[in-house]
Order: sequence, then C-alpha cells, then structure tokens
Amino acid sequence: MLPKRVSREFIDGLPKSELHVHLEGTLEPELKLKLAQKNHIDIGQETVEDVEKTYHYSNLASFLAVYYPGMDVLQTEEDFYELAMAYLQKAASQGVLHTEMFFDPQAHIVRGVPLQFVIDGFYQACVDARAFGIDAHLIMCFLRDMSARSAMDLLHAVQPYRNKILGIGLDSDEHHNPPLKFMQPFSMAVEQGYHITMHADVDQIDSIDHIKQALEIINVERLDHGTNIVENKDLVDWVNQLHIGLTSCPLSNELITDNDLKGDEILDLLDEGVKVSINSDDPAYFGGYIADNYAALANEYKVTPQQLVTLTKNSFETAWISDKQKQFYLEDIDNYVEEFEN
Ligand code: ADE
Ligand code: ZN
Repeated sequence: MLPKRVSREFIDGLPKSELHVHLEGTLEPELKLKLAQKNHIDIGQETVEDVEKTYHYSNLASFLAVYYPGMDVLQTEEDFYELAMAYLQKAASQGVLHTEMFFDPQAHIVRGVPLQFVIDGFYQACVDARAFGIDAHLIMCFLRDMSARSAMDLLHAVQPYRNKILGIGLDSDEHHNPPLKFMQPFSMAVEQGYHITMHADVDQIDSIDHIKQALEIINVERLDHGTNIVENKDLVDWVNQLHIGLTSCPLSNELITDNDLKGDEILDLLDEGVKVSINSDDPAYFGGYIADNYAALANEYKVTPQQLVTLTKNSFETAWISDKQKQFYLEDIDNYVEEFEN
C-alpha cells in the first residue's frame, strides 16, 4: 500500500520512464579518464578528483563550456556503446523500464567522428539492454547554436538510420537561438514521421517567448524543462489542453541556477494537472541519476508518496509509446504500490 512517508526504498523501486537524459552527459569521470588514456587524448586532468574539480557552473553557458570538451574522448563505435551501456545499467538499477535518450551528433561530426560510429554504437546498446529489461530509444538533437542549414544537413545524413531514431530534439545554448530558427528542419522532421521535442531551459532571458514559439508554431509534443510556463496561466492551460509533457530535472536546475531545484514550480504545475516528469539531464555532471533526482526533490520539498506516483505515471503517459504499453506500465506502478510494505 501507499507508504505514509516517502523513503528512498519506495523511490528506487517505483517503475520509471526517463525522457530527458543526454547520453554524452552520462560520461562519468572514471570512463572519461579510461577512454582518454585508450585514445591518447590529453584532457588536462589525470585523476577523478581533478576532473571533478572542473565541474563548476553558474549557468547553462558555463556548463556547456565544460561539457563539450569532455566529449573529445569518445572516438570509436565501441566508446559510444560503452557509454550508453553504462548509463542503461545504472538506469535499470534505479527502476527505469523505458527511456528515450538524447544525443548530439553534430558535436561528434565536427571533431571528425563518423556519424555511423555514434548511431551504431548507441543503438547496439539499446538492443542489448533489452536483455536486462529496459526499453531504450534514441532522440537526435540539433545543436541550437549551430545553423539551421547544419540541422537540415544532419537530417538528410541520418536518413539511412531512420529506423534507429525515435524523435528529434533541440539542445545547447538557448540564448539568441529561438525555436523559430529551426522551423524548417522541425517541419521536415515531422513530415518524416519523427516525434519532436525541444529544450526550453529554466530561466532563460527569452523563456516565455521561446516556449510560445515551441508550442504554437513548432507544435512540439514535449518541452524539455519548460517549468517557466508557471509564470503564464495561458501557457499552463495550453499545455494541459494539448497534453504536452514537461521533462523536469531538479539536480540540473540546482546547479545551473542559483541553487534552486525549482521544486515549487514542479509541484505547482503538478497541482495544476500538468504532465510534468522527473529526469536526470546530465547525471555525470549534475550529481545524480533519476532516483537521486526524485530523492533530492522529496528531501527538499514537501512531496507526498501520491505526488511521486503521479510523477512516475506522467513519465509513462508522456512517453512515445503505444496506449497499450502505457496501460501495462501504469498497471506496473499500481501493482508496485499495492504490494509495497512499509
Ligand atoms: N545539453 C546537455 N544538457 C543540456 C541542457 N540542460 N540544456 C541544453 N543543452 C544541453
Ligand atoms: Zn537537457
């Protein structure tokens, strides 16, 4: 039965779906150092402590300045496989049954890494992870600080891999890079049958304008972050009417803003009926995987077990799976709660 209080044990066992995780953001310092040595890449640090010392950010741009250079160690198809497999094993151990994972091909292509290494390595990990009970899919992101032309080129380049990619997203530096800049590649992506989503990072200078463009012009199915809609009642109504999912990431919020997990916003939106979910974003850089994000929220805010259950249900209801699959996963959650013993 539903416990009286939230515990880590209850959080860990809840069946979850993760819809906002960047595979490159799961690169743990240990793996970064191992791949640097194997591939003869000088990353400037030699110990885990030295790597961790570089992990200080005050906003999105300062995070990205640490994040992109770290990717240099990813060179071969096996490196991409190993990275994704490590995340999938960790996610499975934290109760994830289904995940839709972002990746950034442009960040690798510009370094001379073939697109095929990236997609085949990541995709093979998705296939193999079925053996330990996790259903994993890929969302290819356009980097919004690159041109729309480059996004179009990428969309053409991935045509041979069409069946390996579930959806298209938009990430990287939001400042001066509005959704409208990518109208053409996103409408082409929809024509090609991809699902679409977009980052609307927290507390950006143009957050509200960008969210309006994403919802009203691009017609995204989900918003990644997007919690700034709480400032605008019309946007909350719009998101509710269209059943748009919001993929929120408390530990990322904490490190990218001034120590604010945005728990009040998340819980207010939940109260308003918005389909908000909890996710890890870049767990190796922000200090925790999905269950750690649920726990951080529950530790710092007054969150009831019922609210946690709703958050996990939202993560399946807004996943890109069939209605039948949603029904099975929601039943899994109900069974877990029913059988849970305090
Ligand atoms: N790339 C990786 N993490 C990101 C985030 N939180 N926002 C935008 N781009 C990202
Ligand atoms: Zn993100």
